[in-house]
Amino acid sequence: MTKSVNINIVLLGPPGAGKGTQAELLNREYGLVHISTGDLLRESVKEGSETGRKIAEYMENGDLVPDEIVTKSLIERMQKPDAREGVMLDGYPRNKAQAESLEQALSASGKKVDLVLYFKTSEEVAVDRLSGRRVCPGCKKNYHVTNMPPKNDMICDKCGVELIQRKDDNPETVKKRFNVYQDRTKDLVEHYSDKNILCEMDGDLSAEELFDRISDLFKDKGLVDDASTG
Ligand code: AP5
Repeated sequence: MTKSVNINIVLLGPPGAGKGTQAELLNREYGLVHISTGDLLRESVKEGSETGRKIAEYMENGDLVPDEIVTKSLIERMQKPDAREGVMLDGYPRNKAQAESLEQALSASGKKVDLVLYFKTSEEVAVDRLSGRRVCPGCKKNYHVTNMPPKNDMICDKCGVELIQRKDDNPETVKKRFNVYQDRTKDLVEHYSDKNILCEMDGDLSAEELFDRISDLFKDKGLVDDASTG
């Protein structure tokens, strides 16, 4: 049986820190509902609306999508029934204004951000990971050409679909995303540290080691629901 953890968690870290990868592992082990604003925005792009076309331009340039668009999309997602018991946010907030919007949205229903996992990752490691990342267009599972290859050449293990490379994973856009992270998102480390909810983790570890560290942290903090432990 899946163990359960029912709190609101923010995953913080630069592009390529492994937020999506850990989110998938944490969802599988603890049932935490994974909400990725990158995925929500990519879905809007696929719909092909005027807003979707605007979003695509920002993303392909490595810029942040305007706050009002992302926040609206996030809040709509958080209102779905599966998000009631807690969520794991991947890619939101990315600046102080978004952190405040999130706090307001949660406090309206008597909730708060309970824990921030900050994956501190060197630029060198992250760039290597992003240049080798391949993604399943169906289930969104992440792979890496050498670190985490699929069992069969460039085919998703789960869906049997051919993997793709994200448009924003080219070297020029990756560099831009890093600069945007340094300018806009890094301040959030201090913001959450001041609130005493930031846990810094070594993002350069292997995915398995990092997952084990997070699991230990959950146990130390008494967050794992023993009643459902199988
Ligand atoms: P988003 O999709 O959120 O991208 P990101 O934040 O740049 O993060 P990534 O998905 O690139 O990295 P990750 O940390 O999830 O790493 P992953 O696990 O995939 O955002 C894309 C764009 O959307 C933004 O640029 C912006 O335009 C827009 N956007 C999104 N949210 C927004 C917001 N709130 N406001 C405004 N705009 C917003 O891993 C990377 C690779 O490494 C994979 O290949 C994986 O297999 C491998 N790997 C992972 N962990 C390890 C490990 N420990 N060891 C070895 N390999 C590993």
